[in-house]
Amino acid sequence: MKRRINRKKKETARRPPRRVVTETDIAAWYEGKRFADDWTSWHFPNWMKLLASYHDRPVRVLEIGSWEGRSALFFLNFLPRARLTCIDTFAGGQEHREAAARDATEARALKLLERRFDANVSAFATRIRKMKANSANALAQLGVEKRRFDIAYIDGGHRATEVYTDAVMTWPLIERGGTVIFDDYQWREMPERLDNPGPGIDAFLRAIEWQHRVAHKKYQVAIVKR
Ligand SMILES: C[S@@+](CC[C@H](N)C(=O)[O-])C[C@H]1O[C@@H](n2cnc3c(N)ncnc32)[C@H](O)[C@@H]1O
Repeated sequence: MKRRINRKKKETARRPPRRVVTETDIAAWYEGKRFADDWTSWHFPNWMKLLASYHDRPVRVLEIGSWEGRSALFFLNFLPRARLTCIDTFAGGQEHREAAARDATEARALKLLERRFDANVSAFATRIRKMKANSANALAQLGVEKRRFDIAYIDGGHRATEVYTDAVMTWPLIERGGTVIFDDYQWREMPERLDNPGPGIDAFLRAIEWQHRVAHKKYQVAIVKR
């Protein structure tokens, strides 16, 4: 019994201290940056829990769907030793293009998108790789380059087939023990069921049933590779 207690004490001593990030810290990350939208920051408390064990490590992060850089700035700031690969066409997804066709403000935001992203992440030029491409092409390129990642955030095209393709092409690039987060699992904005991400995520999780464990499943889904 005594030996067990001692071992536990030793393990606790070795564990790095949990990083405390305050709302003031987060506000500072985004100070002076320009955004038209914020679909993302309400996930930060959950991401901080899911990614706490990575914060001091030189992790490789893959992001599919960057928009104006809000999620990218989270990863770059919360994981100060991380390198981030961002894939985006900077042309918007189906829902953004439809909104831009209806509304001049949305059209302007879409026109400014890539410039906004570039300006918002400019302080991190040495830690970021921007791939302006369709995600299927960019992921194939990363596979051919034999790149590997510890964390992936899948938030690109929202049709079920797009999310499924992004997931299938991302999975071989993820290290064992790596984390993949899917956005918008419960998003139901599109009238056609298969124009929403949920069915694509469910189909992918079924296809890799024995290769993952679920770390979180609500509006977003987070899985860890076995
Ligand atoms: C919801 S936004 C991403 C939001 C961003 N992660 C954030 O938190 O601010 C989706 C992005 O995916 C991009 N996108 C959509 N389909 C894509 C595709 N097939 N390949 C690459 N990028 C795509 C769009 O241009 C858009 O910028």
